[in-house]
Amino acid sequence: MACYTFFDRVKPEGKTIAPFCTHEGSGLSGTDRYIADATKAKVTGALEMKGATAQKNRDEAKKEVMDWLKKLGYVK
Ligand SMILES: Cc1cc2nc3c(=O)[nH]c(=O)nc-3n(C[C@H](O)[C@H](O)[C@H](O)COP(=O)(O)O)c2cc1C
Repeated sequence: MACYTFFDRVKPEGKTIAPFCTHEGSGLSGTDRYIADATKAKVTGALEMKGATAQKNRDEAKKEVMDWLKKLGYVK
């Protein structure tokens, strides 16, 4: 809900949103689609990562984030 309140305030129509989250099994649960519907922004491919990876395997977490950013073209 915090994100949707934020979107209401900033009106990100025409901007690009790169969604990411941690989870412990539910994945994105369609939130990337909900964000696209709620904002009319361009929504990139999202990153979902197991919370356990983010907490306990920093090297793997960093690799996954960097691979995602490279795929999106934000990092070379
Ligand atoms: C789409 C989505 C799916 C999530 N699925 C799970 C889950 O399966 N299990 C869980 O314990 N937490 C789940 N969470 C909670 C997140 O792991 C995380 O605790 C929460 O988003 C707060 O993150 P922050 O501390 O970085 O703000 C989910 C969150 C999102 C946005």
